[in-house]
Amino acid sequence: MSFSLTTSLGLNSKYAIETVNLTKVYRSDSVEVYALVDVNLKIRYGEFVAIVGPSGSGKSTLLNLLGVLDKPTKGHVLIEGIDTSTMSPSQLAKIRNEKIGFIFQAYNLINRTTVLRNVELPAVVRGVPKKERVKRAMELLRLTGLDGKFNRKPLTLSGGEQQRVAIARALINNPTIILADEPTGNLDSKTGYEIFSLLRRLSEERKTTVIVVTHNLELANLTDRIIYLRDGRIEAERILRR
Ligand SMILES: Nc1ncnc2c1ncn2[C@@H]1O[C@H](COP(=O)(O)OP(=O)(O)O)[C@@H](O)[C@H]1O
Ligand SMILES: [Mg+2]
Repeated sequence: MSFSLTTSLGLNSKYAIETVNLTKVYRSDSVEVYALVDVNLKIRYGEFVAIVGPSGSGKSTLLNLLGVLDKPTKGHVLIEGIDTSTMSPSQLAKIRNEKIGFIFQAYNLINRTTVLRNVELPAVVRGVPKKERVKRAMELLRLTGLDGKFNRKPLTLSGGEQQRVAIARALINNPTIILADEPTGNLDSKTGYEIFSLLRRLSEERKTTVIVVTHNLELANLTDRIIYLRDGRIEAERILRR
């Protein structure tokens, strides 16, 4: 079946996120690196997907393109059936803020302010009234097991707790998609397992689409589907659950 923009457009899309021939080439003076080559992906609403592959295989490049943080050299990213390739920078910023939550290995929290304020921030950007966003932030901190830690500074928490704060923050605008780049890379195996269990619950109970890059195959086995990248291409896929 060939790619048709018209049939994919609109909220009727079956897929939370799709890519069409997604390609990224990094160019410097003398070298070209084909970081991603013709990647075609369709990821359903509520699906929990792991992306695995050796270092340098293009995992972070793929995640950055899925999160419309970076522009492809060629190809398309469709979010809820809508092609992002012709969007303006302000439209892309709006999509990122409203549809996508990001989680990083290094947590990327603001350490001089409180846990509650960190979780609130994307809702501040969106213009959600204070009372409403504080209520949502407190609910999410309870959901992620951080009841009683609202007023702590992030650096006074354990690594696992800091990553839970980042997950609550990623959820504050009720995104369709969570993108996580090696979220358990700095955590011990028990805490890593707990973070994956939380991500699994989000995909099941809130129907959030979760796409997670990991080196850990044991954790990847907790997802619905594993996508193996090598040299910028999808080398294999394994469906674990439907
Ligand atoms: N900003 C960049 N400029 C040039 N090359 C890059 C850049 N980012 C990544 N690369 C290269 O693209 C390839 C894929 O990198 P990356 O997506 O970070 O892989 P992974 O996350 O799987 O380790 C690697 O060869 C890397 O060196
Ligand atoms: Mg990476």
